[in-house]
Amino acid sequence: MNKHILLAVTGGIAAYKSCELVRLLKKQGHTVTVALSQAATEFVTAQTFQALSGNPVLTENGKGEGNGMAHINATRAADIMLIAPATANTIAKIAHGIADNLISEMAAARDCPLVVAPAMNVQMWRNPANLRNIDSLKADGVHILMPAHGEQACGEIGEGRMLEAAQIAELLPDFWLPKPLRGKRILITAGATYEAIDPVRGITNISSGQMGMALAKICRGAGASVSLVYGKISAKIPENLAYVEQAISAQNMHDSVFRLLQQGQDAFISVAAVADYRVANASEQKLKKDGSGKPPVIELTENPDILREVAALPNAPFCVGFAAESENVLTHARIKREKKGIPMLVANQVSDAMGKPTNIITILDDENETSLPEMDKDQVAAAIVARMVSIWQN
Ligand code: C5P
Repeated sequence: MNKHILLAVTGGIAAYKSCELVRLLKKQGHTVTVALSQAATEFVTAQTFQALSGNPVLTENGKGEGNGMAHINATRAADIMLIAPATANTIAKIAHGIADNLISEMAAARDCPLVVAPAMNVQMWRNPANLRNIDSLKADGVHILMPAHGEQACGEIGEGRMLEAAQIAELLPDFWLPKPLRGKRILITAGATYEAIDPVRGITNISSGQMGMALAKICRGAGASVSLVYGKISAKIPENLAYVEQAISAQNMHDSVFRLLQQGQDAFISVAAVADYRVANASEQKLKKDGSGKPPVIELTENPDILREVAALPNAPFCVGFAAESENVLTHARIKREKKGIPMLVANQVSDAMGKPTNIITILDDENETSLPEMDKDQVAAAIVARMVSIWQN
């Protein structure tokens, strides 16, 4: 879903992050038009944004050009207006309906949603007048990308740092995506488990966590409150999840899942590649060669099958399982769905799925077996969630 984004940049040092933001939004396929306040032009130039966006940049000096209605034309063309960085001054103006420069005029004249990414010194952020203004904006339906805590350009430490460009680029689509999962609580497991042999060695697998993270992001974007339990991962954890916890071994993951189920979950998406066996005779001390030439014997014992146990609960959430197979994918997947007693299972070939940014899946449910072409994991996750939603609604 490619959108036309009107990016308004006001005068703060975080304006440099907005250059990268334009690049990331364009990479997602969106059209970006940039508008600069007078103060912003002292931090970044119109030429920079013109080159990055590939579109003419609107400025205070040029706002009389054309029919003299830049604030109307630009906002009518946009699907969403984002102010990043938004200074305390601009926030205050918008909160009070003041329209005395290009950006505040646009905010007042728009008929599209407005997202604001504040950036300011910690004391300016905490200023009661600023916090009142933020509350007013929220009450008016403006979306706030709350600033982060951290080191500031002035050297102080505290909240007020604008989110990083990558965080904003990840969160922005949530403001236009439909919300079929609004009000739903979804628990997701992701990544590989790790079963210790001794304090430094263990048994794990090549799952990266990318598929689980993509599902967490898509469920969040669809309005769900997402709790994530992850094992060993190399993938990035999505922003703004309701709850995130690491659980390294299968037993840890089992315990986390059952604790979180007590909070009430509408769905459980079991993406984690959970070890079927753990080491029964794990050593507390690092194993050494004893000179006998005989390798140590590692005994295995079976782990609980988390998904199977969850699906068997009397008030089980809607369960989605995964099956990564190296051969006879569909045959094994059908048996697994049956054995685990789950309404929906996603089957994939190990070599197509694990550790890769793309995946080729078949979704098995009570009605259909739907095979999808190779797509990136965000798209795969969107297809899985769309199927979940359609089964839920029936
Ligand atoms: O290991 P298996 O192929 O049976 O995994 C299929 C599904 O079961 C996956 O969704 C996985 O997350 C889940 N699973 C589990 N607990 C295990 C093993 C697998 O929840 N011990």
